[in-house]
Amino acid sequence: RWHLADFAKLTIERLREEIGDHRVICGLSGGVDSAVTAALLYKAIGSQLSCILVDNGLLRKDEQAAVLSEFTNHFKADLHIVDAEDRFLETLAGITEPQEKRKRIGYLFIDCFKEEATKISGAKYLAQGTLYPDVIESGAAPDGPAATIKLHHNVGGLPEQLGFELVEPLRDLFKDEVRKLGIELGLPEQLVWRHPFPGPGLAVRCLGEVTRDKLEVLREADHIVVSEIKAAGLYRQTSQAFVVLLPVQSVGVMGDARTYENAVAIRSVNTDDFMTADWSHLPYDLLARMSNRIINEVRGVNRVCYDISSKPPATIEWE
Ligand code: XMP
Repeated sequence: RWHLADFAKLTIERLREEIGDHRVICGLSGGVDSAVTAALLYKAIGSQLSCILVDNGLLRKDEQAAVLSEFTNHFKADLHIVDAEDRFLETLAGITEPQEKRKRIGYLFIDCFKEEATKISGAKYLAQGTLYPDVIESGAAPDGPAATIKLHHNVGGLPEQLGFELVEPLRDLFKDEVRKLGIELGLPEQLVWRHPFPGPGLAVRCLGEVTRDKLEVLREADHIVVSEIKAAGLYRQTSQAFVVLLPVQSVGVMGDARTYENAVAIRSVNTDDFMTADWSHLPYDLLARMSNRIINEVRGVNRVCYDISSKPPATIEWE
């Protein structure tokens, strides 16, 4: 385990030395990992850094705007935004199998990224916010389990295709260390403490086929859950909280009318390293508020469940 002030200093020096006067491209996702990666690089090489944000249309509510304002407030680096919602929805049309969704999202992400990256001349390196658990779960660590538990599209593939050399300054760190490092580097608390969000985004929380309408339902419900957890002062004490849209319709009643609408599950977990996790023992009144608000405010949802499964044997995401 690292003393993170030393880690920051050493890593910045090492990056500066390794990169020299070359240009580095860094993908930004809105999450803490890519932001800390970009911050380290920005401190090391300043204006030689170019960042790319691919908006795949699978982001949470208002996420692109949040990344933008956080980014422009803290870095002066070159930023490229690729608006690719339509292309992602197209490649996901009719696809229900989770790993197939991940693969398609991964491939299209590579295409979008590649198209944008080739517009940036003179880049030699590609930076990625790969963490130690990503390395292990992808079976890429020499001493890690060989089986790929989930296909992490953010590990491997991209740099070879682009002809870039890979820079992964976080690959020895766990999530809690990355947050501390972010604070050390002066990133804003709300960014550093943002719950992690998977690369394939809301697509793996929209069980079954991904559609624009389903994503909209998910976005609204997710926003309610996260806002209520924040309002209850529990955002920091929970590690990841979100909503999953189930491929299930159930009967309900509204006024005199029978409804037949969607069910969603709220998932909230507590964990240090995301390798194991317990479900969050949220207060009943908080769960009640979330449920009432989702059913009243989100069109098309008439039932809310709370996921009380630990990892293992369940995973954090449902797909
Ligand atoms: P699981 O569901 O495997 O999730 O218990 C562990 C952590 O990893 C995130 N996750 C992903 N992140 N690409 C990512 O970048 C993925 O395909 C992916 N699948 C899961 C998940 O959100 C949790 O934080």
